[in-house]
Amino acid sequence: MQHIPSESRYGTMKYNRCGRSGLMLPAVSLGLWHNFGDVTLYENSREMVRRAFDLGITHFDIANNYGPPPGSAEENFGRILRADFSSYRDEMIISTKAGYTMWPGPYGDRGSKKYLTASLDQSLKRLGLDYVDIFYHHRPDPDTPIEETASALDLAVRQGKALYAGISNYNAEQSAAAIKALRALGTPCVIHQPRYSMLSREPEMGLLDLLVKEGVGSIAYSPLAKGLLTDRYLKGIPEDSRAAGRSVFLKPADITEKLVAKAEKLNAIASKRGQKLAQMALSWVLRDGKVTSVLIGASKASQIEECAMAAGNTSFSEEELSAIDNILAE
Ligand SMILES: NC(=O)c1ccc[n+]([C@@H]2O[C@H](COP(=O)([O-])OP(=O)(O)OC[C@H]3O[C@@H](n4cnc5c(N)ncnc54)[C@H](OP(=O)(O)O)[C@@H]3O)[C@@H](O)[C@H]2O)c1
Repeated sequence: MQHIPSESRYGTMKYNRCGRSGLMLPAVSLGLWHNFGDVTLYENSREMVRRAFDLGITHFDIANNYGPPPGSAEENFGRILRADFSSYRDEMIISTKAGYTMWPGPYGDRGSKKYLTASLDQSLKRLGLDYVDIFYHHRPDPDTPIEETASALDLAVRQGKALYAGISNYNAEQSAAAIKALRALGTPCVIHQPRYSMLSREPEMGLLDLLVKEGVGSIAYSPLAKGLLTDRYLKGIPEDSRAAGRSVFLKPADITEKLVAKAEKLNAIASKRGQKLAQMALSWVLRDGKVTSVLIGASKASQIEECAMAAGNTSFSEEELSAIDNILAE
């Protein structure tokens, strides 16, 4: 049966302006990197999107290569959109990306205009959409002039296949060049998608400040460090966890004693704040207003429910912040 969204869906979520643009994003967004491919249960994926939307999570992030197999997450999400959200497209912000290997040969990877333009067309077909809201270049390509990559994003926007252009995984210097090249074409870079969490603080080394100065929004991916910054691994590696599953991006060997010891200490601070560790990890990313949204992943709807509440408690005392820094530095 088609989903009837909750009438109270806009009651609690916070929406933040994405840089100096008209785009508002929910403080918590849902990414479809894991648990939306053909190898996972469609009904669970569907339930997660339904629950997210009911909680005011209006933004869903995907990429051409998400699966497995690559492309299947877009196909499955397209199926969910048709089944449940055909009347709600105007309440959703859907992003996709291209930049990693997608098809064989010289035109299925990296940052050329040929690849990006073809990939977006393929994504739209798989999603069953006329346009995406945000189209990202997924990673910098040092061998393609940034002016060419920028012109591919600009073309997508001018053709109406994307409303906004974004970049991901660019460092501060690469971002400055991309922002400039896009601006010269009259299509602003509206958003950057860097990895940022308590365990990945590279964006603090200049990138976040650059984005604020340039009026570019940011959405932090893997804010829970793929599950390490949650209570998931405090008592071993659960069978249904990402680390125990088929993901090549988190292996049992990544769940080290040192990281679990940090998570335990962080968990104690979270408890004192009246939060779960996952919630505190998200609140921390959102703490100083530099980041527009946190882009979580999930394997079950109950995790999304917990995470959605994080935006309600983003202030930290100086003592809490320095206690967290000390634990992270151990
Ligand atoms: N631009 C890029 O290059 C790039 C790269 C990576 C990701 N991304 C984007 O970022 C999104 C999120 O990445 P991610 O999945 O690595 O994010 P994450 O939020 O750091 O980790 C998600 C995992 O944390 C666990 N989790 C979530 N909520 C929880 C809760 N309340 N309690 C306990 N555990 C919880 C779940 O693990 P279990 O599965 O074990 O339950 C979940 O799969 C992706 O879907 C994608 O859209 C972008």
